[in-house]
Amino acid sequence: MANAGIVQVALLLCFSTTALSMSYDVLQVQQRGSVSASWTLIRQLNGTLHNCLQDRRDFNFPEEIKLQKFQKKEAILVTHEMLQQIFDLFRRNFSSTGWNETIIEKLSEELSWQMDHLKPALEKITEKEKLTLKENPTLQQVKEYYFRIQQYLEAKLYSRCAWIVVRGHILKNFSVLYQLTHFVFKN
Ligand SMILES: *[C@@H]1O[C@H](CO)[C@@H](O)[C@H](O)[C@H]1NC(C)=O
Ligand SMILES: *[C@@H]1O[C@H](CO)[C@@H](O)[C@H](O)[C@H]1NC(C)=O
Ligand SMILES: *[C@@H]1O[C@H](CO)[C@@H](O)[C@H](O)[C@H]1NC(C)=O
Ligand SMILES: *[C@@H]1O[C@H](CO)[C@@H](O)[C@H](O)[C@H]1NC(C)=O
Repeated sequence: MANAGIVQVALLLCFSTTALSMSYDVLQVQQRGSVSASWTLIRQLNGTLHNCLQDRRDFNFPEEIKLQKFQKKEAILVTHEMLQQIFDLFRRNFSSTGWNETIIEKLSEELSWQMDHLKPALEKITEKEKLTLKENPTLQQVKEYYFRIQQYLEAKLYSRCAWIVVRGHILKNFSVLYQLTHFVFKN
């Protein structure tokens, strides 16, 4: 009887470990799917640069991000920050662009979904670590990058061209989010 109990416990442990790693894999696939879905939605927004060439700008995307090997916790924070910033950006006044509001709405939903699914991992990071990570140079660079974009949009009074330029940048740097999922789901 005792032996049967041990076998059961062993089986249960074995099963739950597999289940856990499986759900991790599923989550990673879902997150990557969500990144692709957001990218596809942004691509659907009209972005003809024609007549907007004079508004092109370099916002200095922190290039280190591409080369960096992230710690899991850092990756979670950076990913969440990027998603939040993109979400906030597309809640600004884009009326000059004539962009389809349904697409923007879908994009907001997709980004929210992804942020919600990062939340449990985000909550596991303790308060103490959060304070340290807040001063993380990469996270700071990410914030400053989006701040430069915000300032540019404001200075350009949310003109159609300014939005088209910004859309192009966001789209180009989306690959970073995809790469980050690798570190978010690292054991
Ligand atoms: C995109 O904008 C340009 C310039 O306003 C316009 O000529 C073109 O028809 C638009 N394309 C779509 C798909 O809305
Ligand atoms: C949004 O921007 C347009 C100009 O692109 C402006 O006419 C309109 O008043 C702005 N709306 C808000 C709510 O700020
Ligand atoms: C906006 O996008 C939705 C979903 O893609 C589509 O069904 C709708 O026809 C579009 N509206 C306009 C005005 O293009
Ligand atoms: C980000 O986008 C800019 C152009 O907007 C590009 O020059 C840069 O290489 C991109 N960086 C990454 C890491 O994708």
